[in-house]
Amino acid sequence: MGISRNKATYTDTGIVNYYTGLQGLQPAEVAILERLRPQLATMKMLDMGMGGGRTTLHFAPLVKQYVGIDYSPGMVAACQKRFSDVDHPVRFEVCDARDMSQFADDSFDLILFSYNGIDYVSHRDRLSIFAEVKRVGKTDGYFLFSSHNLQALEQNLTWKKQFNINPLELYINMVSLGIFWLFNQTLSRQTIADSDYLIVRDDSHLFRLNTYYVRVRQQQKQLIQNFSDVEIYPWNRKEKVVAMDDRDMETALWLYYLCRIKG
Ligand SMILES: C[S@@+](CC[C@H](N)C(=O)[O-])C[C@H]1O[C@@H](n2cnc3c(N)ncnc32)[C@H](O)[C@@H]1O
Repeated sequence: MGISRNKATYTDTGIVNYYTGLQGLQPAEVAILERLRPQLATMKMLDMGMGGGRTTLHFAPLVKQYVGIDYSPGMVAACQKRFSDVDHPVRFEVCDARDMSQFADDSFDLILFSYNGIDYVSHRDRLSIFAEVKRVGKTDGYFLFSSHNLQALEQNLTWKKQFNINPLELYINMVSLGIFWLFNQTLSRQTIADSDYLIVRDDSHLFRLNTYYVRVRQQQKQLIQNFSDVEIYPWNRKEKVVAMDDRDMETALWLYYLCRIKG
């Protein structure tokens, strides 16, 4: 199953229902929302791949204008229903992040692609998404997204890391690790160690998705052309990374990147 099949998974009713049930922000998202809060009331926001509207709940009441897009018509319909009677204006549209031609240049002050939504396209498409974000974003606007961390995946794939004194958890971890290697038979430890980025079948949604993992240095390189002032937040904490040897950069399975859009 190739990466182009991800869209079918995100269109599945069970998966749509799963995302529609999510509510809370992740610690990094909380910290970044608080940081941007003083400016939010003046901002036009684009929420890319808003899924079931988890981030809509928190951002839409605070911003000047909120537009959510998703390539899954099921997610868009679910959000239209979930937010049908809110008293602040929200708009949801079916749109693929790779082609946002329905939006004019310089339209948004804040663009969000949360919870690793950008990780479900090919490497080439990922780069074209960054270019599209720059086009529809205003100069000095913010782009916030998260992406899976290849360094953390590499660590997680060791039997030692999966050891647990609880026999049930140990069993689940071992089975899950075994299934990972079964679904990724062309991968080897050496390939992972040698790669800057990789697309793998990981355990999310029972191995139904092909997911992009990237090392921090490679991610920074991908951003240079269109973005500046990149800050990194491990998903599970509120403090940004201040040194490249920060331990959480090796262990957090996904990282948030907060960037300014170049002119
Ligand atoms: C992991 S879910 C996250 C949902 C939501 N952003 C959240 O944080 O709860 C990823 C979302 O991105 C959407 N998505 C993935 N690739 C996309 C693309 N190329 N264009 C638009 N949406 C996309 C999926 O349909 C899905 O709703």
